[in-house]
Amino acid sequence: MSSHLEPAKPEAMMQAPLVASDAPNPAPKQLSTRYDGRAKVTGAAKYAVEFKPPADPAYAFVVQSTIPSGSITAIDQTVAARSAGVLAVMTPFNAPRLPVSGPQPPARRHVTVLQETDVFYNGQPIALVVANSLEEAMHAASLLKITYKRTPAKLDFAKRLSESRPPKSPGREPGAQTRGDVPAAMAQATVKIDQTYTTPYQHHNPMEPHATLAWWEGEKLSVYDSTQYITGDKQTIARTLGIPLDNVHVECPFTGGGFGSKGSTWSHVILAAMAARAVQKPVKLALERPQMWGPVGGRPTTVQRIQLGATGDGKLTAIQHDVTVHTSIKEDFLEPSADQTRMLYASDTNRTSHRLVDMNLGVATFMRAPGESTGTAALEIAMDELAEKLNMDPMQLRVVNYAEKNPGSDKPWSSKNLRLCYSQAAERFGWAKRNAKPGSIIEGNNLIGYGMATATYPANRSSCQAVVRILPNGHAFVGCGTQDLGTGTYTIMAQTAANALGIDPSLVEAKLGDSTLPKAPVSGGSQSTASYAPAIADAALQARLKLTQLAIDDPQSPLRGAPVVDIAFKDGKLFRKSSPTTSDSYAAIVTRAGKPVEGMGSAEPGEDQTSMSTHSWGAVFAEVAVDRDTHMPAVRRVVATYDIGTLMNKTTGINQLHGGIVWGIGFALHEESHLDNTYGRYVNANLGEYHVPVNRDIGQIDVTVLDIPDTKFNPLGARGIGEIGITGSAAAVANAIYNATGKRIRQYPITPDKILLA
Ligand code: MOS
Repeated sequence: MSSHLEPAKPEAMMQAPLVASDAPNPAPKQLSTRYDGRAKVTGAAKYAVEFKPPADPAYAFVVQSTIPSGSITAIDQTVAARSAGVLAVMTPFNAPRLPVSGPQPPARRHVTVLQETDVFYNGQPIALVVANSLEEAMHAASLLKITYKRTPAKLDFAKRLSESRPPKSPGREPGAQTRGDVPAAMAQATVKIDQTYTTPYQHHNPMEPHATLAWWEGEKLSVYDSTQYITGDKQTIARTLGIPLDNVHVECPFTGGGFGSKGSTWSHVILAAMAARAVQKPVKLALERPQMWGPVGGRPTTVQRIQLGATGDGKLTAIQHDVTVHTSIKEDFLEPSADQTRMLYASDTNRTSHRLVDMNLGVATFMRAPGESTGTAALEIAMDELAEKLNMDPMQLRVVNYAEKNPGSDKPWSSKNLRLCYSQAAERFGWAKRNAKPGSIIEGNNLIGYGMATATYPANRSSCQAVVRILPNGHAFVGCGTQDLGTGTYTIMAQTAANALGIDPSLVEAKLGDSTLPKAPVSGGSQSTASYAPAIADAALQARLKLTQLAIDDPQSPLRGAPVVDIAFKDGKLFRKSSPTTSDSYAAIVTRAGKPVEGMGSAEPGEDQTSMSTHSWGAVFAEVAVDRDTHMPAVRRVVATYDIGTLMNKTTGINQLHGGIVWGIGFALHEESHLDNTYGRYVNANLGEYHVPVNRDIGQIDVTVLDIPDTKFNPLGARGIGEIGITGSAAAVANAIYNATGKRIRQYPITPDKILLA
């Protein structure tokens, strides 16, 4: 692979003069093993409900509605309450009242659970049974006699498209945007595309289902929760229960995946806390796998009409992308599938819109690259269709329409090297061997096809704090209230602190996932590393400055009286630049000081947020084989090159990109939740029938990154890496299937039946 294998310039980094204005060196010395790898493979890493609470726990089971719309008229719990082991049955008729209004209303209405008898979707939590064992709770739940009054439900998305409406509140960008006269430009275009693409309901399904362990000690609530956002969890729990923020303690040292579904707090967390108070015992509440379809979000289904107009030589003169997605009648959530269409290709004439269709379904949420995954899945097929009409190479079409600045906001990019991504990935893939004529490569019984697409995802960062302590034994502690979803946060925390202190990473203890630690943002929007790493570097710098001051003030230090500018650091020592053998070790300085030396650090988003446009980039190429008899598509290989700024850690970073591509393949070929339009339940709510790719489905993945620092975005030059891998990759597979078969499938997932019937 490319030069990122080298631990570039560690010398410059370690010998940097110690002044407050020091920017950390953007080239990180990388940890080659995962900080938490041993804990993960030995099972020492514990997940939410695996922790041992202070007393024997009770177990809670969530009872869900069996109608999609209406109200509960009665719940007869006589038999259930008498069932063996049952400690409590909570229903809307007896549950403690929560503050549903007031100066600080709960952020999300559906989280305020068991407060009303209304049912807005099939699967809504409507009761909770708490018992001494999970089995007893589940059995008692089956004994509840629930009667409903039904009302007509809004369920058939395809039939309700005419009811669509604009979103009530815009997301990170306005719902609709127009620049230029799109109809006029479209009318004048030499070559046009006007097609509609659909993406299905999808559900996150991290390995660890949503799970919460909660207990009370007096007014204090302790929670182990599987979450992407301990700080947000704490806030939502406090608000929803109407208790002081300081009375809530959230811990989550390991999150068994999340993909967006654990970025917000859902009703089961509140239920666990309410139950623990009701039974005066710790309560464990883990959702069953089928309960992951409904109460904890999912990706909305989308219909996307894309119109492209171009000159004969491929210049885009008009782009229009109109998106309709479903939302829950309870709360708006917008999958902003057209957002990337505003900025990805140069065009002065551009119209995008998003509309919502109300449905009796659970509230949807962010799911890996919300917007860009579904949006590029459609846009990048449309570009392939346009290239074909133009008789132009699909990659060349992208290069011809390369955006030198953000065409939507008119701002310069903080950094963009997408041309290099195209050329490097095309070369590694062997794109030159592609034949534009579908079906021209046949191997045995397989039609072989090549396809490509552009990947992009915004580079985000948020305010973050961190603490670094240098200990008397020369080791260090780094703490930050962030999360690790299996993405590598621990590793990069330890590595960043070690680099900034000039000590070996093995001497660093990293702690995260505890709401008493300094605050960090949600581990979502691919922003964690770009947010916490500069904060940790700053905390380490502050600790070093304190250490320096201690040494130069200390009569016992060889560095006594040295000017600050003459002090450098390396290998756990401070030394004089003018006399490198004059040194004092961290251990000696801290030992003499009698207590750890602590630095608090913080990092804020900078000017880049207003004056620049910050995005990551990539080019994805896929080769598929489609069986001529069964029409079964198989991905043989994916080759992708990304421009994600500095690659902080090869092991964890490349792994994230692989994971994103696996999702892209699943998006293209497998994932779909099938909704029963009469009853409003997903009929394949289990991992047997909700297909995600397995090893056999993936083939080879070849990922490279350019590793070009984006220091305008943050001092370490790193942009996010978690979500970009899924973008573009679904369309690359779809385009390869077209190249293999000549069949253009515009409805994801691309299953053999669709290829057969096309
Ligand atoms: Mo990601 S969907 O922003 O957790």
